[in-house]
Amino acid sequence: MKNALIVYNGFLNAAGPPAHAESFVAAAKKSGISMKAVKNDSLARALFMYAPARQYHDPLPLCPSSCDFIIFWDKDVILCRILQDMGFKVFNAARPIEICDDKALTAVELRGKADMPETAVAPATFDNIGYTSLGFADIAAESLGFPLVVKERKGSLGQQVYIVRDRESLLNTVIAHDRAPLLFQKFIDTSNSMRFFEDGLRAAAEASPPVFDDKKTVSCDLRIYVIGKKTASAVVRRSVSDFRANIAQGSTPMAYIPTEEESLLAETAAVALGLDFCGVDIVADASGKRYLLEVNSNAGFLGFYRTHGVNIAEMILQYIIGKTRR
Ligand SMILES: Nc1ncnc2c1ncn2[C@@H]1O[C@H](COP(=O)(O)OP(=O)(O)O)[C@@H](O)[C@H]1O
Ligand SMILES: [Mg+2]
Repeated sequence: MKNALIVYNGFLNAAGPPAHAESFVAAAKKSGISMKAVKNDSLARALFMYAPARQYHDPLPLCPSSCDFIIFWDKDVILCRILQDMGFKVFNAARPIEICDDKALTAVELRGKADMPETAVAPATFDNIGYTSLGFADIAAESLGFPLVVKERKGSLGQQVYIVRDRESLLNTVIAHDRAPLLFQKFIDTSNSMRFFEDGLRAAAEASPPVFDDKKTVSCDLRIYVIGKKTASAVVRRSVSDFRANIAQGSTPMAYIPTEEESLLAETAAVALGLDFCGVDIVADASGKRYLLEVNSNAGFLGFYRTHGVNIAEMILQYIIGKTRR
């Protein structure tokens, strides 16, 4: 019988393990693996450094020989790195999680490897200083034009992604978020891009392809799940209300079979960043050109079960079992 841990953030999930952790535990049980869900803060002992070697007693068997692998469903990269250094096999590893958690780092790492929209990173400042001049925002706007997209470098669910339509709202947005590292990106209008996904939607639909009024499309994108360098599953997300196609912002996911080019873009990014599993966001512009927007190391997958009947937790687990076979 194998033993494993899944680490999740204890502060974000004070009430107990999130649904994703539960689905990994259930998938593990099916494969005869005893997996325990643990909060990052319950491993706080591991964060002691430069101290005499200590024993890690129950309830957590913090010993690599008694734990076959760890699924790291969190962004606590220091903890992740220390667990790796202790000899645990950790999925995803710390560095890929760190790169994905920062959209600017992702863009730097993928330069020359994957097409992303034109992107300008705001120069770094300090929390207690903010921005004492805003010339960099004008420089970005000169090249990107309006509307443009402002993103907090660390953000998710579309919550820290803003569209600005003129100079005044650009400067106001920058000032309002001067405590958060930012980047600026060319706005890719996807309101007419559903047509590029029609074949893949048809191919994925078991009975009849989804019906929608294309005139109402405000935005759409692809979320491609990559596991072990290969595309595992994909959805088109279509919004009738927002330029952000996140499900958390009200979009509808639809089962989709990506083109070879789309799969290759997602897989190239996953491999370049060293991810064992990830969700990649891709858009198509009005000419059909595909751009990668971001890579998510802890990408939600429960929607894939609803749209496809596929269990991503089980797929990730099978991949990890293959990699950790002794
Ligand atoms: N440059 C862009 N042009 C057009 N739409 C964008 C752009 N960047 C992001 N979006 C939209 O906003 C959504 C959220 O952006 P994303 O970079 O994936 O951040 P998050 O981590 O919040 O999901 C995307 O899924 C996409 O629909
Ligand atoms: Mg996203």
